[in-house]
Amino acid sequence: MLKGKHIILGITGGIAAYKCATLTRLLIKAGAEVQVIMTPNAKQFIQPLTLSTLSGKPVISEFFTANTGQWNSHVDLGLWADALIIAPATASTIGKMANGVADNMLVTTYLSAKAPVFVAPAMDLDMMRHPSTVRNLELLRSYGNHIIEPAEGELASHLIGKGRMEEPENIVKALDAFFAASEDLQGKRVLITAGPTVEKIDPVRFISNFSSGKMGFALAEECASRGAHVTLVAGPVALKTDSANIERVDVTTAVEMHDAVMQRLPQSDAIILCAAVADYRVENVASSKIKREKTENPVIQLTPNPDIAKAVGQAKRDDQVTVGFALETDNENANAQGKLERKNLNFIVMNSLRDKNAGFQVDTNKITIFTDKGDVINGECKSKRAVAHDIVDVLYQYLSKHEN
Ligand code: CTP
Repeated sequence: MLKGKHIILGITGGIAAYKCATLTRLLIKAGAEVQVIMTPNAKQFIQPLTLSTLSGKPVISEFFTANTGQWNSHVDLGLWADALIIAPATASTIGKMANGVADNMLVTTYLSAKAPVFVAPAMDLDMMRHPSTVRNLELLRSYGNHIIEPAEGELASHLIGKGRMEEPENIVKALDAFFAASEDLQGKRVLITAGPTVEKIDPVRFISNFSSGKMGFALAEECASRGAHVTLVAGPVALKTDSANIERVDVTTAVEMHDAVMQRLPQSDAIILCAAVADYRVENVASSKIKREKTENPVIQLTPNPDIAKAVGQAKRDDQVTVGFALETDNENANAQGKLERKNLNFIVMNSLRDKNAGFQVDTNKITIFTDKGDVINGECKSKRAVAHDIVDVLYQYLSKHEN
């Protein structure tokens, strides 16, 4: 699981720092890229040269590199990292992390990082038991940091008790297990439609809707970050995709979206139909611009577009999971449940335009999920990415049932 992962190894000033040579070597052997950041005190316990040699990268310790004056950006490092391990974590660093005392490069990077953080404390048993350490570790847990509990054994003080930094092999195992659990969609192929479709009236005008694509793109990012290979069939939107796990297919019209989806349907494990597809297209598209003087009362003749969700529902195999969306203005529940059945979906995500902060253009959403088993799951108003997380949790349950 660690192959290609960007790991920041933060080393602080404790005797267990010598174990970081082995920890670095094991992480590199597992295929990770390791950037070591040392606190000034850590350098009293292990030479930066040992760690830069093992990691293949210069060790960072100060805000500036002394001989070049180059600024080491804690923000960039925090964004680069897939995980941070602070090992050994002394009582002092744990205290600084818990209380935001950003007086060195390591704690500033910790405060900037968005990635999961693992803390492997190492200290004498009385320090470990002190109420301030206990409270600070509790604070770190409350921030969502993972504490790799120290082992029992003989300590540097020759006292025997809890405080030995966990062995490097076990730290690597903990990290590996974390990535395995967080990549629960590993090996799955997810096809997602997103954004609006655009249907031409003439070479300069079109019919479309207010969809921004934000919900579909958040779902794509969420599935990709959980290890899935995502094909994102997107109508015209102003959004970018960053993940290497997302293959993007840009389309304009509903017919193009339909064809792109149906072509990729057989190889997909899950299909999420999040696009706001125009239900009609113009039958009499003008080949040149409709001119005001020549056409006083123009008539735009509409013809139905394919219902992509319905076509998928009819063609899908039993082992494929389909998810639809319903954006409603009234009779929300009945309309959503009708679509669930009509389109042969496994579950449908309903949002009501009557809810503030839900629907088109905004960054938040409030959803209700109706499943084919009759379950109704009500959600809070959350960011679209957090909503995507909840939807993908339900998708994961369906996918794992199909595996068994
Ligand atoms: N959908 C689709 N193709 C269409 C229309 C809708 O794939 N031509 C999908 C949407 O992506 C969504 C679900 O079907 O997952 C419901 O879309 P919605 O527009 O709410 O439903 P419609 O079937 O178009 O019904 P209506 O417009 O009457 O509410």
